Amino acid sequence: MPQTYLDPKTALEHLKSYSRSDGLSVSELMDSKVQGGLTYNDFLLLPGKIDFPASDVVTESRITRNVVLKTPFISSPMDTVTESEMAIAMALLGGLGVIHHNQSPEAQAAMVRAVKRHENGFISDPVVLSPTHIVEDVLDIKARLGFCGIPITDNGAVGGKLVGIVTARDIQFRDPSTPLSEVMTTDLVTAQQGITLSEANDILRDSKKGKLPIVNSSGQFISLLARSDLLKNQSYPLASKNPQSKQLYAAAAVGTRPSDRDRLTLLVEAGLDIVVLDSSQGNSIYQIEMVQWIKATYPKLEVIAGNVVTREQAASLIAAGADGLRVGMGSGSICITQEVMAVGRPQATAVYAVSEFSNKFGVPVIADGGIGNVGHIVKAIALGAGAVMMGGLLAGTEEAPGEYFYHEGKRVKAYRGMGSLEAMEQGQAAKSSNQKSSKYPAPKKASTVENAATSRYFSESSAVKVAQGVSGDVQDKGSVKAFLPYLYVGVQHSLQDVGVRSIAAFQKGVQEGAVRFELRTASAQIEGGVHGLNSYTKRLFA
Ligand code: IMP
Repeated sequence: MPQTYLDPKTALEHLKSYSRSDGLSVSELMDSKVQGGLTYNDFLLLPGKIDFPASDVVTESRITRNVVLKTPFISSPMDTVTESEMAIAMALLGGLGVIHHNQSPEAQAAMVRAVKRHENGFISDPVVLSPTHIVEDVLDIKARLGFCGIPITDNGAVGGKLVGIVTARDIQFRDPSTPLSEVMTTDLVTAQQGITLSEANDILRDSKKGKLPIVNSSGQFISLLARSDLLKNQSYPLASKNPQSKQLYAAAAVGTRPSDRDRLTLLVEAGLDIVVLDSSQGNSIYQIEMVQWIKATYPKLEVIAGNVVTREQAASLIAAGADGLRVGMGSGSICITQEVMAVGRPQATAVYAVSEFSNKFGVPVIADGGIGNVGHIVKAIALGAGAVMMGGLLAGTEEAPGEYFYHEGKRVKAYRGMGSLEAMEQGQAAKSSNQKSSKYPAPKKASTVENAATSRYFSESSAVKVAQGVSGDVQDKGSVKAFLPYLYVGVQHSLQDVGVRSIAAFQKGVQEGAVRFELRTASAQIEGGVHGLNSYTKRLFA
């Protein structure tokens, strides 16, 4: 008997006769009583319909109650990931860098200040000398740093009164012991603070000078513009800026010990916008009290509390006043918490559970740790996160602290957990009185705690340190200024495949059950990776 087929023109109509769509809704996917805890690799999103270009996809997302970023990317507060250079680059590119606290409060505050002072194209921390420095000092800077156009202020620092500038020509044929007061150019072309980059560029071009010092109304030196940087100045349309001050957003981490209140005061004076309370288990009375104290003392400061992985933990911190929550325990690439402590939660389940709860209160979630590729970012957002926090993925970039070196023929940078013995030891030395604020404080013997007042007998060095992280290296990833745009465009393409035009529409679609998921078996995961090749090269972007 000949088979009869339905009329192809009725295919869309016929779909409606099915009681449910392909795949699973997010609540079916994340039913941990059935599936257990899931990681990002355990599931996929099903494709939707494309009727717009990927470049139309809007990646704007809320990361705290009052802060919206144009891209959902945050760098971890780790001493091999985020110092001022990374924080500036992340903010310029539409994300955020959280400056680590494994350093003295003063050093951390100086980094916050550098982010707040940063104006694209202007050098806000240039080398400055005083009139009493000598020609030899300039020659020394030239040998070390490769330039010798140096502003001279009365006190030899940024903020001092600008009295001259020294250039290569000024010191040519001069005795190295000559004071700069005798050689410096005092006929200065300057520009006033607040000038735009393009106006400053015009002055530089017309004056034919190599450097343009920027001064405030009292003649104090503020920043410098260099002709050699003219061509390099890019524009950053996605930059994360405080809408009031128009300065880049600055974020930094602190602990929850009493001394961290003093640290935070310094950071706030430096212009901090967002503080991240850095703890591997955030549901503690110390953190609850710290959140309450911060909200009472600095009501305008956004507080990201954490880390949490359950609704119960989240509820305590939301009730205390947290403006955002950092989610993850044991998912980080350098992390051995789950192994050593037997405590934690698979990251996809943790992100879903906490987001599902905290989004009801308008408190966004940051999915922290375990992000290894663009797909993981998209999955974290699908599960309700407002942004992802990345350590290992960014540690190999030029903007991460530390120098490149070669390991087994590969160009690498060091990357280590903040709970590794190496990081804890360095932190102890760097912050001495503040050392108790470590994210992974070493447990102390009961007698040590009881006798804290008699520290003469129980020195910090005798505490048993239990590592929760490892120390290693990651491969060179080039500049964050190329890598982050790759993540951004990658997310746009992924959302286009899902058929949604924005992160907001994506999360709405997930909640309403229109965006569908599929679980991946172990063999599905093998199938989804490269397989069956003799050898291959994996280039991710060009
Ligand atoms: P990654 O992006 O997978 O490399 O994970 C980075 C995240 O791991 C950080 O943002 C922290 O939340 C977490 N982390 C940092 N240091 C440690 C550690 O020593 N043990 C456990 N987790 C850590």
